[in-house]
Amino acid sequence: MKSESVFDNIVKEALNGVGQVVLTGGSSGIGQVFINSIARVEPCLPICNLSRHQCGDFGGQLTHYECDFSQVTARAEVFKQLAVDLRQNPAKGRLLLINNSGFGSYGHFPAPDLPTQLGMIEVNISAVVELTGILLPLLKERGGAILNVASTAAFQATPYMATYGATKAFLLSWTLGLNEELRGSGVSALAICPGPTRTGFQIRAGFSDEGFVAKGGQSAEEVVQVSLKALIRGKVIIVSGLRNRLLAWLSIHSPKVFGARIAGRLIRGTRMD
Ligand SMILES: NC(=O)c1ccc[n+]([C@@H]2O[C@H](COP(=O)([O-])OP(=O)(O)OC[C@H]3O[C@@H](n4cnc5c(N)ncnc54)[C@H](OP(=O)(O)O)[C@@H]3O)[C@@H](O)[C@H]2O)c1
Repeated sequence: MKSESVFDNIVKEALNGVGQVVLTGGSSGIGQVFINSIARVEPCLPICNLSRHQCGDFGGQLTHYECDFSQVTARAEVFKQLAVDLRQNPAKGRLLLINNSGFGSYGHFPAPDLPTQLGMIEVNISAVVELTGILLPLLKERGGAILNVASTAAFQATPYMATYGATKAFLLSWTLGLNEELRGSGVSALAICPGPTRTGFQIRAGFSDEGFVAKGGQSAEEVVQVSLKALIRGKVIIVSGLRNRLLAWLSIHSPKVFGARIAGRLIRGTRMD
């Protein structure tokens, strides 16, 4: 009970001055916890969610935009419609954009197939760049923050998840660059780097069991709490959890080829055919 009120206080503080939330991937996992927590603490705050599936009923002011980010043409139309809707119903206050949608895939490249690999780049990279680009004028007008959910996979190559790790490395680098460009504009960007987290991500990625997560991952609630704390503190990058911070530090300070070999062993160890 006490920890829930601590969590709620963090959510409340992070949402101070926020008049509208746009989030991707709220239908499950980390995104679902973001929506759930925001709607519980600020039930009148309008939230727009973009994903293929509906979110549950959170009792807040939720608008769902059905969208498959791997479909380039359809995606662009939905993003533009969202921007028009936001302008037509201007909520007062800052805009919080949470780019959370993403998926990974385990196997020898290009398994399971090349379209999945290319779709991953569309969802994890192109959709984030496109949505942020379309909403940036509004973000600058109203002030706000961009939260990009990257991963600790961003800190070293990830054999057997090579494309996934590379998409997250892009996202980390892009967020850092963007934040610097936005300095003084009233808009900030934050790269969130969770390690293994207990969501449906692992099974969807093709791990036969929960892999790393079974060996001690975080809950989605922990990741959301750490992310919102980082937003409050004005951080540009946050690695969630002490163990993950240590591993990220080791990856950054190791030769890249060595880091890739160790990561490959760890990933193979979680599920090998
Ligand atoms: N779980 C982990 O261990 C972990 C670790 C580090 C980083 N992350 C990152 O955290 C973020 C959230 O993942 P999660 O752990 O919460 O996994 P999750 O439960 O599988 O959620 C992924 C979300 O992404 C959305 N998504 C997937 N493909 C999409 C598509 N084609 N178009 C639009 N949306 C799509 C899904 O919505 P629909 O299926 O409804 O489209 C879902 O809401 C991801 O970016 C992931 O890379 C996860």
